[in-house]
Amino acid sequence: MSCSILADQGAPAVSVAAPAKLNLYLHVCGKRDDGYHLLDSLISFAEIGDSIDIWKSDHLSLEITGPYGMTLGQDDLDTNLVLRAARALQDLCPEAKNRGARIVLTKELPVASGIGGGSADAAATLCGLCQFWQLTPDPMDLSKLALSLGADVPICLAGKSSFVGGIGEDITPAPMLPNSALVLINPNIPLSTPSVFKARQGDFSPAARFDTAIASSADLAALLSQRHNDLEVPAISLLSDVGDVLQELQDQQGCLLARMSGSGATCFGLFADPASAQAAASNIFARHPNWWCKNTSLSTF
Ligand code: C5P
Repeated sequence: MSCSILADQGAPAVSVAAPAKLNLYLHVCGKRDDGYHLLDSLISFAEIGDSIDIWKSDHLSLEITGPYGMTLGQDDLDTNLVLRAARALQDLCPEAKNRGARIVLTKELPVASGIGGGSADAAATLCGLCQFWQLTPDPMDLSKLALSLGADVPICLAGKSSFVGGIGEDITPAPMLPNSALVLINPNIPLSTPSVFKARQGDFSPAARFDTAIASSADLAALLSQRHNDLEVPAISLLSDVGDVLQELQDQQGCLLARMSGSGATCFGLFADPASAQAAASNIFARHPNWWCKNTSLSTF
C-alpha cells in the first residue's frame, strides 16, 4: 500500500488510497471449526476506492465524507473499522498510546458490497498512522493485527495482486496481471457476508492457482473462466439483483467475463478495451439509474 506525505500546510499530513479489492476468482476450499471458511482466491485492486487523510490533532477522531459517507455516518463512529484499527495500532505500539490524529475517511465505495471498502479503509489507516506517528511495528505483528480486524484486511495492507489462502492471512504474490478495463456494478443493496457464507451449499472446491504471467485481458478472462466465485450462487439466492447485474454486464459489447466479487453484491466485468468499458458503464447506468456503475481498470501492482 502506498502513502504520500503532503507538505502543504492546508493539506493533510498523510494521504492514503484505499482501493477497491476484487476477488478475480474465489474458491471455498473448506471450513474451520470456528466457522470461518478456508479460501483460495486471486485478489487484485481497482484504480478507484476510498481515501484516508490524516491531519495533526491532539485527539484521535474520525470524520466521514463522500458519496457513501451518510450510510456509514449513521452507525456509531466508535465501531468503525478505521477507529478500531487506530486503537489496535496504539495497543500494539505503546509509544503511540496518547498520540492524536484527525482522520477523514472519504467513502466512495458502497458499504457491505464485496469489494473490501471497510477492510481497505482499515488497512489504509494502519499504513497512514504508521507513517504519521513514525511507527515501525514488526510486520508479522502488524499482519496479525490486520487479521484481527477482518479476513480481508491483510491483503488490503499488502496492496498487491496476490493469491490469498487460509481465511485471508496466507498471501502469495500473483504473477503480473494486465492493466485490464473494468466495469464495477453494485445494485446499491448491502449483502451480509456471514449470511452469504451461511447460504453456501455443496462440496468444497480445490485451489486453482497458476504461475504464468498473463499478457492480455483476453488471456486473463480465459484463465478466470475456468475458475469461479463459489459465493455467487448463495448471494443470488439471497439477492436476485446480483443475477440481474451479472446478466447486464454479460450483455454488453466487449465484455470478456462477468463475475461477482467477494460475498457481493458488487460484480465486475472485464472488458476488451477502455472504450467498451466506458460505453458499458454508461449503458447500464442509463437503464438502472439506482445502481452504482463505475468504469475503471485493474491496477498493475
Ligand atoms: O473477517 P470478517 O469480519 O470480514 O468476516 C465476516 C464474516 O464472514 C465472518 O464472521 C464469517 O462468517 C465470514 N467469513 C468466513 N470465512 C472467511 C471470511 C469471512 O466464513 N474466510
